[in-house]
Order: sequence, then C-alpha cells, then structure tokens
Amino acid sequence: MHTTNRWPDLAAALQPLATSPEVTVRTLRAGEVERLITLLHRWYPALAVAEVGYLLDPVFYADQVAYGGEAVAERPSVMVVAERAGELEMCVLLTAEDDGRLLSGAMTVVSPAAYGRGLGGVAARSTIAVARALGADLAYALAELDNHASRRALEAAGLTLCAVIPGSERKPTANGGVVRVAEAMYACSLVPAVAPPRAAALTPTVAALLYVQHGVRPIGGEARSAAVPARATGVDAACRFVSLRDLDAQREAEADGLALLGVIPGTDRHLIDGALTYGFEALYGRPADALDAAWPDPATLPPTLAELVDHVRGARTMRAA
Ligand SMILES: CC(C)(COP(=O)(O)OP(=O)(O)OC[C@H]1O[C@@H](n2cnc3c(N)ncnc32)[C@H](O)[C@@H]1OP(=O)(O)O)[C@@H](O)C(=O)NCCC(=O)NCCS
Repeated sequence: MHTTNRWPDLAAALQPLATSPEVTVRTLRAGEVERLITLLHRWYPALAVAEVGYLLDPVFYADQVAYGGEAVAERPSVMVVAERAGELEMCVLLTAEDDGRLLSGAMTVVSPAAYGRGLGGVAARSTIAVARALGADLAYALAELDNHASRRALEAAGLTLCAVIPGSERKPTANGGVVRVAEAMYACSLVPAVAPPRAAALTPTVAALLYVQHGVRPIGGEARSAAVPARATGVDAACRFVSLRDLDAQREAEADGLALLGVIPGTDRHLIDGALTYGFEALYGRPADALDAAWPDPATLPPTLAELVDHVRGARTMRAA
C-alpha cells in the first residue's frame, strides 16, 4: 500500500525554509560527520546521557543515516542542518518509522550562539517538509515538558500536543547524576481526513481522551471491531500504538497496566470497502508511577499540557462531556 521506500531528493523541500539569504538548509554530507560530532559536544553536552546519545557516535552515521536516495528501511534517518557563512548552526535528526509512514524529529540542537534566531523553528518546519516529501501520514516530535522554546517552535510549525510520555528522556543533574524526565509528543497529521471511530469499539478512557484532545465524538452503529496488530514506535521503547478499531487490544493494554498517553490522528491506515481510510490510534505506555522520574511544576506549563500531564499521572480522570 505504501509506495515511497527510498529517500527522495530533499533539497527542494528544505532550502525554502531558510530564515535569511545567508542561511542554507540541507541534509548533512557524509564528509561532515566528524565536524558535526565535535560541534554537538560543544553545543549540548547533555547529549552524552540523552536517549539519542548515539548522535555522538560516528558508527550511527555510517550505519543509519541516508545521504541521498538510499532505501528508507535500511537507512531510516536523515540529518538536516542549517549553515550560515560556512558554519553549521543547527541540526535535527529525522527518523522514519514503518518504512516512511511516520517521520519523527528525534532531536534538534542549535548552536547556543544562534539561539533565538528562529533555527529551532526551521528544525520543526523541516520535520513537516521532509514528512510530506516522503509521503508520510504523520510528522511528530518530542519535547521535554519544560523546554518552552522547543514546544513553542513545534506549535508554531503546526504540530499539536498529542501525548505525554513519562520518563522517556534522560537528563544530567547538577550533582553528576542522571534523571528521567517526561516529554510531550507533538504531531501533525498529513492525511486528507481522519475518520471518527465507532463508539462500540472504544474503552471509556479512550472515548474520553479522544473528545478532550481532539473534540471528536465517536459514531454509533455496529461495532465493526477488527483485530489490528499493535505497533511499536520510536516514541519510546515501552510505547505501542493501538487501533481505535480494536476494542480487545485497548482492553488488553489497559489490563496489562499500561497507561493511555494520548490519541494520535491519522496513523491507522486501512481499507474500508476498497477505499483508503485513516483512523486514530491510542498511544499506550508505561504508567508514570512505574518510573522514578522528575516532573515540572504544572503551574509552569500551559493549561492543555498541564491537564494532559495530570491525566497521564493519574491525578485526573478525563470524562467525555
Ligand atoms: C530548543 C532549541 C532547539 C530552540 O532553538 P532556537 O533556535 O533558540 O529556537 P527559535 O529561535 O526558533 O525559537 C523558537 C520559539 O521559542 C521561543 N523561545 C525561544 N527561547 C525561549 C525561551 N527561553 N522561553 C520561551 N520561549 C522561547 C521563540 O520566541 C520562538 O517562538 P515564536 O516562534 O513564537 O517566536 C535550542 O534552545 C537548543 O538547541 N537547545 C538545546 C537542545 C535542546 O534542548 N533540544 C530540544 C530537545 S527537546
């Protein structure tokens, strides 16, 4: 069903995102890997303990990064960079899942000397531009809850809050330790339309969050419940996508003690009576109390994010109005 399985030429999608005539936005060249790793150590030392610490390892670039035209399944990542006056100033790692059906902005790092000049925004817009060029159904990215610039850049680019993932990132502490922190998942659906699910195929928790997050009420009628294999996702190793057509899979996830972290639009691609249709999926993952993780003060977060954090931490039960 999915036809794009080679990386397209991304030059035409990326260069228009430049913030000024002096800035070039393009993919990394194989010969620039060593230089970029040196810069990353300087720009963001916390990367060494982060989930994407492999960005400091040349082997990752040799094995996983595409430099033009390679098969997406074999080399699922591209590195987009911004350059000004011959100097790299920003990079964002974009990683394809499911042979290009999803594209994630796995990590953005900007040179501290260039903070506040819009390069975080360029990275966020690159995620959507590359997802479109690839023919993906969804572009998404994770931002630490208290990273206001990162969240702001994603929202300004058109991604919206879809889930909160407890303990999905690692950060260094002041005393030389490492702490797990939660991230917010922001996503942008690129499919033409997302069909509402059937009420009879949803658990009450899923129905409530679908309404609170997306304002979508399920439709009535016969259940048409289908067995759809749950999918792993690069969002977090412990997370899985569960179709909103599959009531048993939602019940199973909840009976397994997994928490409902969010509802994602448009990732459930399937045929109904021969027509290509896109539905919602629930994102389940480890519950917050299963992790020794740090959370920011909810008072420092925007209300919609604070509300979802409360739900994911079990402090609030979402009810469909
Ligand atoms: C997060 C990061 C990528 C932002 O890069 P940047 O180039 O400074 O971001 P931008 O200039 O594009 O600003 C993005 C938005 O955040 C806002 N912003 C910038 N700094 C901010 C701050 N400290 N607090 C709140 N908002 C801020 C900007 O005004 C802009 O919003 P706007 O589009 O409404 O004007 C950069 O700080 C960075 O590399 N940090 C270290 C690595 C990191 O944390 N990566 C993200 C991992 S989740």
